Amino acid sequence: MKYQNLLTTFENGILTIEVNRPKALNALNKDTFSDLKQLFEKDAHQIEGLKGIIITGAGEKSFVAGADISEFSSLDTKDAMALSKRGQDIFKLIERFPKVVIAAVNGYALGGGCELALACHLRIAGAKAKFGTPEVTLGIVPGYGATQRLIQLIGKGKAFELMMTADMIGAEEAVQLGLANHVVAQGEEVTKAKELIEKIAKKAPVAISKIIELVDDYFDKTKDGFQKEVEAFGYLAETEDFKEGASAFMEKRKANFQGK
Ligand code: CAA
Repeated sequence: MKYQNLLTTFENGILTIEVNRPKALNALNKDTFSDLKQLFEKDAHQIEGLKGIIITGAGEKSFVAGADISEFSSLDTKDAMALSKRGQDIFKLIERFPKVVIAAVNGYALGGGCELALACHLRIAGAKAKFGTPEVTLGIVPGYGATQRLIQLIGKGKAFELMMTADMIGAEEAVQLGLANHVVAQGEEVTKAKELIEKIAKKAPVAISKIIELVDDYFDKTKDGFQKEVEAFGYLAETEDFKEGASAFMEKRKANFQGK
């Protein structure tokens, strides 16, 4: 897999992606979005034995410090809407990806970087992680989903406060608010993310993919989440994973899931 601004490694079934523009604190420019699109729309679906994906930032300082502000200067309304929609669509690919995707937040996660982390299923914060949505400082609003996803994770009051003040919060506060799942020592984010992926990979893969869909469906105003749950429950009943999981329980052994 060749990308302009992403470094990837695949080891023991885990794909680790580093957003690699450290001189710009890994800000997301057009090329980086193209890379993410190619990866989450096509490439990652073709990896055999994929257990999960970790997204982190290159360098010591930053996960992703936002959208690349240098690309903003000549935007008119039409361009800005297209930019926002494209970013949202690409982050949606991450949110709906059928294997667990974890943000290993190793520094600044601001604006579009915070939104990238929000689109992942789980977030691990290193001790020096900083989360924030500083868009109002620039005279804009978040454009890659934070106005919607931040409320889902931390509630309306705190989401208002973060988006209106543009304050940054640290790792401990992010965990207290529910924005991050765990805080770990700086530099241990990817290790912790791998540990979680290994744990999740022992569970039935088709059921995990349905959990991802169903939780996302809850927030889709056009869908009836309870009905979606009934359908997923029915679908899973006829999978080999379910037969294996139930047999393993009855036979008092560990299940050996095939993801079918
Ligand atoms: N876009 C482009 N370049 C960026 C950037 C960004 N979002 N964030 C940092 N950089 C660049 C800086 O311009 C600087 O480049 P030069 O060395 O060429 O001058 C380099 O990265 C290092 O940054 P600083 O010197 O500013 O580093 P610092 O340690 O003093 O400050 C920081 C770090 C607090 C993160 C500061 O860089 C900052 O405030 N960055 C912008 C954060 C931001 O506003 N993000 C939101 C963007 S808007 C958005 O994301 C909209 C959306 O939802 C669609």
